[in-house]
Amino acid sequence: MRDKYCGFVTKDDIGKVLTLAGWVFRRRDHGGLIFADLRDVTGIVQVVFSPEISKEAHDRAGDIKQEYVLRIVGKVEKRPPETENTNLPTGAIEVYAQSFEVLNTCKPLPFQLDDEDINESIRLKYRYLDMRRPEVKQIFIERSKAYKVTRDYLTSHSFYEFETPFLTKNTPEGARDFIVPSRLNTGNFYALPQSPQLYKQILMMGGFERYFQIARCFRDEDLRADRQPEFTQIDIEMSFVGREDVMGLSEGLIIALYEALKGKKPPELPFPRMSFADAMERYGTDKPDLRFELPLFEMTDLFKGTEFGVFKKTIEDGGVIKSMILKGKTLSRKDLDTAVDTAKEMGAGGLIWMRKDAEGFQSPIAKFLKDDEKSGMEKMLATQTGDVIFIMADKRSKVNEIMGRLRLYIGEKYDLINKNSDKFLWVIDFPLLEYSEEDKRYVARHHPFTSPKDSIKDFKGDYESVLANAYDLVFNGVEIGGGSIRNHRMDEQMEMFRLLNMKEEDAFEKFGFLLEALEMGAPPHGGLAFGFDRILMMFLGLDSIREVIPFPKTQKGTCPLTGAPSKIGQKQLNELKIKSTGENR
Ligand code: AMO
Repeated sequence: MRDKYCGFVTKDDIGKVLTLAGWVFRRRDHGGLIFADLRDVTGIVQVVFSPEISKEAHDRAGDIKQEYVLRIVGKVEKRPPETENTNLPTGAIEVYAQSFEVLNTCKPLPFQLDDEDINESIRLKYRYLDMRRPEVKQIFIERSKAYKVTRDYLTSHSFYEFETPFLTKNTPEGARDFIVPSRLNTGNFYALPQSPQLYKQILMMGGFERYFQIARCFRDEDLRADRQPEFTQIDIEMSFVGREDVMGLSEGLIIALYEALKGKKPPELPFPRMSFADAMERYGTDKPDLRFELPLFEMTDLFKGTEFGVFKKTIEDGGVIKSMILKGKTLSRKDLDTAVDTAKEMGAGGLIWMRKDAEGFQSPIAKFLKDDEKSGMEKMLATQTGDVIFIMADKRSKVNEIMGRLRLYIGEKYDLINKNSDKFLWVIDFPLLEYSEEDKRYVARHHPFTSPKDSIKDFKGDYESVLANAYDLVFNGVEIGGGSIRNHRMDEQMEMFRLLNMKEEDAFEKFGFLLEALEMGAPPHGGLAFGFDRILMMFLGLDSIREVIPFPKTQKGTCPLTGAPSKIGQKQLNELKIKSTGENR
């Protein structure tokens, strides 16, 4: 229907008569002349309707409205120098319409496509209009590019691409499963996969050695800015490898994606590494944002002989005292109170502040501290006049968790984060297990197929001290991927189930197919998965994962475009032998 895309018309076309097709983005009626910006997937070109070129076209152009779909025939002319638009690739030319066809009309729009601030639910309801906006369109073009970069990189490293089923067995892996009733096996249910984890391990047992999939995953969990109920992973698995092989190869993939999307190399190569233990102690989180420092300092030893009640009691109860120091900012009393309130909202029992003035420390607790405790703090934190110290005393895990969140809050509030820098970090040496208050037992921190760094045969000691052969990749404080070396022998896998307090018959009921395969020549293997949407969101500098997914769900898990989820008819329910016990909504 066209000779050329709108965005590709250049000075070289001056004098040519071209047929173009697209949407009317903006239209301006200057009486004598009517201007329309014609837009297609490549960009915009200015079309001029002049009565001198075609009276008929000019007359009809008066009726053209925004987003009409046109096919025009026109001659490319150089724009008069004073009307050139250097912001537009096609800004040096314009197309004088000789004739045009209206391929479709458009009703008045629910929002102006060039508005800056459009309500998100309206944008998602009319996603097709939203996608016509050049900046939104560009995000999805980048997404498409990222698929290609991924496939090119992995296939050139001898990976085979496979698809794995969506209708699978309910094998809980952390989050809640989405369930699909089976009509042919009433009373039975499929689960949508939380990830292709077990299938990719089975492919290793099938001898493919290197697998990848750009895989859709489904998790029925509470949604956040970086979480969707269905999302995409770059899923990778390799045989006859150790941790270094998997990390090295996947680092190469991330570098390729970073270069393609950001047009430059990552700042620090190879990516730095940190142990889980160091990350927790220094930054209070397993995904530290290293675009700023503000580390946590442990001061428990300093206060061993303290007479200050709160610290004394905490230490007696086996807790810790940790602090962070904010330098070079002037904080008012109100700022300090706000910080305390924020910590309390985060769940802290309290937060102590101390401000270093010319006369010494100002603080509600200053009078309770001994001189050597104060000077010890000054030495440890290298305090200077004006500095503010925040201190928390409680159980280690609680102090780390809340101070970690407070660190982010302070970093954001006092502009400590260098938003122009990017920081990758591999976090390694995770604990294999973590205690679940909800289940009252130890659960796998990553997933139950992750291998321990050292043998856990007959293990009886401190469960939390066992380290996993697992690794996460963090980018600017967001976990963009993670994986592990797996248990590849039946006895190792059964040891893990034993630590998880899973009975042998339950293990066989849930994972019999895997356990059987492990006994038939399963090779050593490991892999990882990256959050594809998260990578796009982070590399494109966007605040929400919904911006990079063509048809995302809202925070409530609904699709504004189609109205999913929706009720189903009684006939369908009968076929499935399902009785609804309550109203949905
Ligand atoms: P994991 O559960 O860590 O590992 O997931 C890997 C990566 O997927 C992304 N991600 C999400 N992105 C958007 N919305 C969500 N709800 C969501 N959940 C996770 C994160 C995360 O780092 N099978 C293992 C991988 C392996 O061991 O090989 C797995 O799924 O970026």
